[in-house]
Amino acid sequence: MTDPFPCRINILLGMFTVCLLCTSAENQCKIHKEMADCSHLKLSQIPADLPSNITALNLSHNQLKGLPPANLSRYQQLVALNAGYNLITKVDTALCQNLPVLKVLNLQHNELQQMSEKYYCHCASLIELSLASNRIEEIRGDPFLNLKNLTVLDISHNILKSVKLGSQPQLQSLQELLLADNKIIHLENVELYFLNKTSLEVLDLSSNPLKNFQTGCFRVIANLHALLLEKVPLGPELLEKLCSELSGTGIQTLLLRNIQLSSISNTTFSGLSMTNLTSLNLASNGLSIISNGAFASLPQLEHLNLENNHIFHLTALTFFGLSNLESLNLKKSLIGTNSSKFSIIDDLSFHWLGRLEHLIMEDNCFSEITPNTFTGLSSLRYLTLCNCSTDLKTVTNKTFSSLFNSSLISLNLTKCGIIRLQEGAFSSLRSLQVLDLGLNQIDQELRGYELKGLDSIEMIYLSFNKHLSLGKNSFSFVPSLRKLFMRRTALNIPDFAPSPFHSLQNLTVLDLSNNNLANFGEDILDGLHNLENLNLQHNNLARLWKRVNPGGPVLFLKHSVSLQILRLDSNGLDEIPVNAFRGLSKLKYLGLGLNNLNFFPWSVFDDQRSLDILNLHKNLITSVEKPVFESVFKSLKTLDMSANPFDCTCESISWFINWINVTNTSITDLSSEYICNTPPKYHGSFVTQFDNSACKDMAPFRVLFIINTTVILVFIFIVMLVRFQGWRIAFYWNVSVNRILGFKEIDKVGEQFEYDAYIIHAKKDENWVVKHLIPLEESSVRFCFEERDLEAGLPRLEGIIDSMKRSRKIIFVITQYFLKDPWCHRFKVHHAVQQAIEQSQDSIILIFLEDIPDYKLNQTCLRRGMVKSHCILSWPAQQERVTAFRQKLKVALGSSNKVN
Ligand SMILES: *[C@@H]1O[C@H](CO)[C@@H](O)[C@H](O)[C@H]1NC(C)=O
Ligand SMILES: *[C@@H]1O[C@H](CO)[C@@H](O)[C@H](O)[C@H]1NC(C)=O
Ligand SMILES: *[C@@H]1O[C@H](CO)[C@@H](O)[C@H](O)[C@H]1NC(C)=O
Ligand SMILES: *[C@@H]1O[C@H](CO)[C@@H](O)[C@H](O)[C@H]1NC(C)=O
Ligand SMILES: *[C@@H]1O[C@H](CO)[C@@H](O)[C@H](O)[C@H]1NC(C)=O
Ligand SMILES: *[C@@H]1O[C@H](CO)[C@@H](O)[C@H](O)[C@H]1NC(C)=O
Ligand SMILES: *[C@@H]1O[C@H](CO)[C@@H](O)[C@H](O)[C@H]1NC(C)=O
Ligand SMILES: *[C@@H]1O[C@H](CO)[C@@H](O)[C@H](O)[C@H]1NC(C)=O
Repeated sequence: MTDPFPCRINILLGMFTVCLLCTSAENQCKIHKEMADCSHLKLSQIPADLPSNITALNLSHNQLKGLPPANLSRYQQLVALNAGYNLITKVDTALCQNLPVLKVLNLQHNELQQMSEKYYCHCASLIELSLASNRIEEIRGDPFLNLKNLTVLDISHNILKSVKLGSQPQLQSLQELLLADNKIIHLENVELYFLNKTSLEVLDLSSNPLKNFQTGCFRVIANLHALLLEKVPLGPELLEKLCSELSGTGIQTLLLRNIQLSSISNTTFSGLSMTNLTSLNLASNGLSIISNGAFASLPQLEHLNLENNHIFHLTALTFFGLSNLESLNLKKSLIGTNSSKFSIIDDLSFHWLGRLEHLIMEDNCFSEITPNTFTGLSSLRYLTLCNCSTDLKTVTNKTFSSLFNSSLISLNLTKCGIIRLQEGAFSSLRSLQVLDLGLNQIDQELRGYELKGLDSIEMIYLSFNKHLSLGKNSFSFVPSLRKLFMRRTALNIPDFAPSPFHSLQNLTVLDLSNNNLANFGEDILDGLHNLENLNLQHNNLARLWKRVNPGGPVLFLKHSVSLQILRLDSNGLDEIPVNAFRGLSKLKYLGLGLNNLNFFPWSVFDDQRSLDILNLHKNLITSVEKPVFESVFKSLKTLDMSANPFDCTCESISWFINWINVTNTSITDLSSEYICNTPPKYHGSFVTQFDNSACKDMAPFRVLFIINTTVILVFIFIVMLVRFQGWRIAFYWNVSVNRILGFKEIDKVGEQFEYDAYIIHAKKDENWVVKHLIPLEESSVRFCFEERDLEAGLPRLEGIIDSMKRSRKIIFVITQYFLKDPWCHRFKVHHAVQQAIEQSQDSIILIFLEDIPDYKLNQTCLRRGMVKSHCILSWPAQQERVTAFRQKLKVALGSSNKVN
């Protein structure tokens, strides 16, 4: 038996090789224009099949051990080469020979240790070189001698013990030398000699354990602008030494962050008096004591950062001499003393700072703001006091009176614990444009005088306060306002006109969200012609739009024709009036999410033809109907209709699915949040899985269905009509035909009849006729009574026909006998009806002597329907009604014969 395993192993090996080949395939590099990105590919050699004209090559995060020139020589036009995060231990001399135009070489995070003189001798065109995060301990000789154009050299995060990078002046073009996080302890003149000819501007020595500066060391690099010494544990003494070394240099920026400086005396910075220092950063030093006049030697200083310290006390002399200061950052630096949680700011502490524009005092704890705290800050433009614990519960007309002469344009009082604004609280701030009072505890009625004097105000932020109550004059003194925010303020808006906002003609943004507002009049936005952005989300406006609202739906948007952004989310809305958005033709964003909307009136969105974003997220929408959405969907860029209980039937969403399939509109969470609720067959499945093809054939079927049904119904109707009313049709048809064909009319004016009526009766009713009808002849009525009036000699049939023709009307006396008398109901009835038809007459009078059901009467060719109702008479059972019967009969006899 042969062992199957070798065979399997071969196959496995084969697959493995294929896999190796495919992972090392060089075409995985991403090429964009002339840049090739081959990072994160586990490469162990440089790809050889990239376009030869690339100018930038990223080989970072691979497993390269070196940069062999052989492969690189293909890329002669390379300007930038990033070989960071590899395993490179040495740089080949020929590297730069093969890359003649290389300007940027990044070798950070490699394993470089030794720095041979030859490495960069051909790299004259280099402008930036990064050797950060290697293991370089010492630089011997002059490896950088030829880098005449180098401007940035980064050797941070190595283990250098000395700044010495060469033995003779070199690196003429060097501007930034970054040596942070090394092991440099001393700065000595000889070591810096190689920089004698440079125009070095930035020297970063942060995070080095510096202990000593040799006298004159910084004079060698006299052009130095910025010295960065973050996290160098200098302490006050060494700092003073450093400052005196910097005297007379071009130093402009000193970063002294986190250098363990707990106090500053009046001599600490005196060495800097002979400089033009403009920027000093002393942040995060635990600084608690600043002597009077400590900054007196820094008259050129423009920016002072004292953030994150623990200063006990600012006196009227602390900032003495800082007459050019433009910005002062005191954020989180006045956080109490050893004995108190409040730091102390003396009156007039800032009065030297006549040019200060930015004063940042966030996150502080100081005792109080007095009428002289900010005195002298005549150039101040931005003041932030947010999150300050001071005794600022009530802002009075004195609080900021010290800024009376300033040009303050922005005041940030967020989170200051303010409870009340007194009248004239900001009346000193006539230039103020932005006032932030958010996140306080303000609880009051705004009567208007609180904001009086804010003549230039454009934005007031009052959101997140305790309770605000508005009146009709709340904003009367700030007509220049453009943005007003009152989110979550338990707002109370009066229901009567004029609205509190009526004076704000220039208002563009109004935020009334999260207030549980349930009631306001339809004129609340009257006059806000420029309103572009209205936030009304998280209120309780459902009732305002209900049809059953007393007085009808409140169309409160009708005045805001400039609206572009409208948020009405989370309002419990379940109805939208058809005119809710009428005229809002500039609307770009409409938010109606998180409501209870199901039904939309057709054409409700008809004016929103340039809408970009429509949010109907989480409503109760079941169907997406074409007449509602077709026009608004046309311009839409983003639609969010997710999380609705869609009814996945052809009627409800077929049109929507068709639209989704062809639209370019981005539909939020389409693949995950559009789920069918009904019918049971589709419950829980995605709307996109709905089989829309079944709906396509619906249209023709429907037409066919409608036509079929109509035909059948019409047919049934006709059959029923003929069955039950056929005689009437025939009768009227005949009457009409006769009339149209112009048979002579007997009832013409002046025509005379011999008789008023011909009486038809059964033989057995003769007695009744003689007794009750004939007596009527006394009153100028003349009947034709067969037994009496038929001319003798004429054959009987002709006699009857002739007599009928000579009578104006024909009276039928209807009894059971009449119905049974064939002579009567066949021949006579036929002729009477015939006569009525031919002569266009309604000449028949029926007298019922007893109750005869219709169906029995119908067996003769007579029908009640052929006879006018007043020509149908019943013989009364009671004697006293006989007179009335006679009267009726006379009326019937006198009536016109015409069919009306
Ligand atoms: C670079 O070479 C590729 C082909 O290798 C070519 O398509 C492209 O146009 C070239 N780019 C330039 C700027 O010459
Ligand atoms: C150095 O820069 C100068 C001026 O920018 C330029 O003329 C010169 O060619 C550059 N030298 C090299 C070797 O690229
Ligand atoms: C630096 O070079 C200048 C000449 O460029 C020379 O006068 C000065 O003495 C040198 N400084 C030091 C410390 O060698
Ligand atoms: C520095 O302060 C000390 C007292 O602390 C004072 O005697 C000295 O005159 C001050 N020096 C300057 C230059 O103000
Ligand atoms: C400071 O600036 C002034 C004016 O710009 C200049 O005359 C002076 O030499 C500068 N001082 C230093 C030490 O650079
Ligand atoms: C400040 O308000 C008080 C009353 O609260 C008033 O007497 C005083 O005149 C006001 N001062 C200014 C400058 O308006
Ligand atoms: C006021 O300061 C707070 C906190 O830093 C900030 O969030 C807010 O945006 C500032 N207000 C203004 C109007 O800049
Ligand atoms: C409203 O804005 C216009 C145009 O910017 C301006 O001219 C007008 O003075 C402003 N109205 C008020 C009351 O500030």
